[in-house]
Amino acid sequence: MKIDVFKVEEWMNEYEKYSKFDLGNTTVNTLSLNKLFEITNTNKNDFFERLSQKNLGYGYITGNPNLKKGICSFYKTISENEILPTIGAAGANHLIFYSLIEPNDRVISVIPTYQQLYSIPKSFNADVQYLHLKPENNFLPDIKELKSLITKNTKLICLNSPNNPSGSLIPDDLMKEIIEIARKNDIYILCDEVYKELNQNEYFSSSIADLYENGISVCSMSKTFSLAGLRLGWLASKNKKIIKSCMHHREYNMISCSMIDEEIAALALTKSEEIISQNKKILSENLEILDNWIQSQEHFKYIKPQAGTTSLLYYDFDVPSKEFCHRLSTEKGVFTTPGFCFELEYCFRIGYGKDKKIFSEGLKKISEFAKENRGLYDTRILK
Ligand SMILES: Cc1ncc(COP(=O)(O)O)c(C=O)c1O
Repeated sequence: MKIDVFKVEEWMNEYEKYSKFDLGNTTVNTLSLNKLFEITNTNKNDFFERLSQKNLGYGYITGNPNLKKGICSFYKTISENEILPTIGAAGANHLIFYSLIEPNDRVISVIPTYQQLYSIPKSFNADVQYLHLKPENNFLPDIKELKSLITKNTKLICLNSPNNPSGSLIPDDLMKEIIEIARKNDIYILCDEVYKELNQNEYFSSSIADLYENGISVCSMSKTFSLAGLRLGWLASKNKKIIKSCMHHREYNMISCSMIDEEIAALALTKSEEIISQNKKILSENLEILDNWIQSQEHFKYIKPQAGTTSLLYYDFDVPSKEFCHRLSTEKGVFTTPGFCFELEYCFRIGYGKDKKIFSEGLKKISEFAKENRGLYDTRILK
């Protein structure tokens, strides 16, 4: 089976090594186990002693009940049997396509987004159509465009909110319009919510799993809880058929998740509010730095992100994004991700969840780079 190269992952594997200033990653400062024990007031020796006595069997096949209880607290109406743990959100997305999509099914995916959402269904010979998120529309889905893409073969709409890379967040009223279209045409909605709760204000949009009976929420421990190394995610849906089908397919490629990962994730979820508010603080401080920086720049522009950990920066130099980011990495040590990885040009993605000082210095290096290259490249009008 052929599948397109996963551009963003390939880029990151290649360029992370030049990263003196990490503006390329999408996680917020990740947590060590020591830090997690501190946040959760857990005695490390007791925790490991308890874990050491457990037999390393397959654990709970459908997920550790404490973990599922913790996950339920992120939804208003979802119960434990409506959740299926997976290997990261990446595993959840894959499992959903593997379970639901057949050749010639139409799948509508937002773009730009995490490439799984369109490249996996394409590899299953689905008829994949793009729903474009544009800066002039604050990177939100356009209802007219969505309606024009619906056919009788449409099985699934893939959304990603908060969006990676743009940082847009679909508000409930717009989501309800999308749901109405899906409901009328008997279409599932997968919403990748891996940056859940990481927004810039108090209010956070509802989950698709709470709003729509045929909605599937995908989330994980990686971004919201800064525990990407656990490789633990989940899908949640009220539709019993979806859960059953995913469970059936899951038996073929994972059986169960790691019981150790599940124990640690369950522990983290007991203090989810603390972890989230810490992450939100880092993100809002860095976003203020980014916003001030961009106001002072003549070569860069952006749509201020509403949520998530990333933003798209547009530049006015007439140079492909791959060359731009390659030079930034190799000459200035600033790790960014080119628009090319998201089928876009004249822009790049930055992640603003890392150390404040490194972030500020990285931005300074980008200004320096722009200044030095002013004469070298023609400029375009930044709209
Ligand atoms: C939108 C989106 N979905 C899924 C993933 C994969 O997340 P996980 O680490 O939980 O597999 C990422 C990682 O960057 C992402 O940005």
